Amino acid sequence: MTETVTENRIKFMEHQQPGVTIWFTGLSGAGKTTISRAIEQALQSKGYKRIEILDGDVVRQNLTKGLGFSKEDRDENIRRVGFVANILTRNQVIVLVSAISPYQEIRQEVRERIGNFVEVYVNAPLTVCEQRDVKGLYKKARAGEIKNFTGIDDPYEPPLNPEVECRTDLESLEESVAKVLAKLQELGYLGFPEVKTY
Ligand SMILES: Nc1ncnc2c1ncn2[C@@H]1O[C@H](COP(=O)(O)OP(=O)(O)O)[C@@H](O)[C@H]1O
Ligand SMILES: [Mg+2]
Repeated sequence: MTETVTENRIKFMEHQQPGVTIWFTGLSGAGKTTISRAIEQALQSKGYKRIEILDGDVVRQNLTKGLGFSKEDRDENIRRVGFVANILTRNQVIVLVSAISPYQEIRQEVRERIGNFVEVYVNAPLTVCEQRDVKGLYKKARAGEIKNFTGIDDPYEPPLNPEVECRTDLESLEESVAKVLAKLQELGYLGFPEVKTY
């Protein structure tokens, strides 16, 4: 009896679960991929099943392959990612997008189209990102081997009003994850109860 009630409750909650796009923006090496993966794990462990990650690096190898780093191409990249995120969001998926997305205007456009949109500014000073140089790209950009590199010879426009800001140079990964989850909860995107197994 109790089991059936619980199962029905879970089905009901799954049915009710709203889709949402959590959009991580910030410089290369700021921590977008790291935080979005940790959020995915945290949500999975809470019982959420409908989660998708759209990571900038992966997307640029398929969905937006061939696009470069001019403003036009960067905007087109974000528009296409936003298109997919929108489709997933309206199908009750929790979508985690990590993309530098340096331009405010196109982020705003995508926000308005999707509606259920949580912007996370993954913020670490350029000097810190450059020190991390996770992919060795800053070194190449400084050497002039890569052009139009965000923060070096291409602009980054910080979000004006992000739902969450993660200062990854000052806070731990766990703190950043907790902040994002708390905001999702506050905004009503986490209705699903933690499923306990005894
Ligand atoms: N609080 C933090 N949150 C996220 N990443 C952090 C944090 N502190 C240090 N890091 C490190 O910063 C790097 C961020 O790299 P990555 O997630 O690939 O950045 P991005 O996807 O923004 O280019 C990783 O090596 C990660 O371990
Ligand atoms: Mg990344």
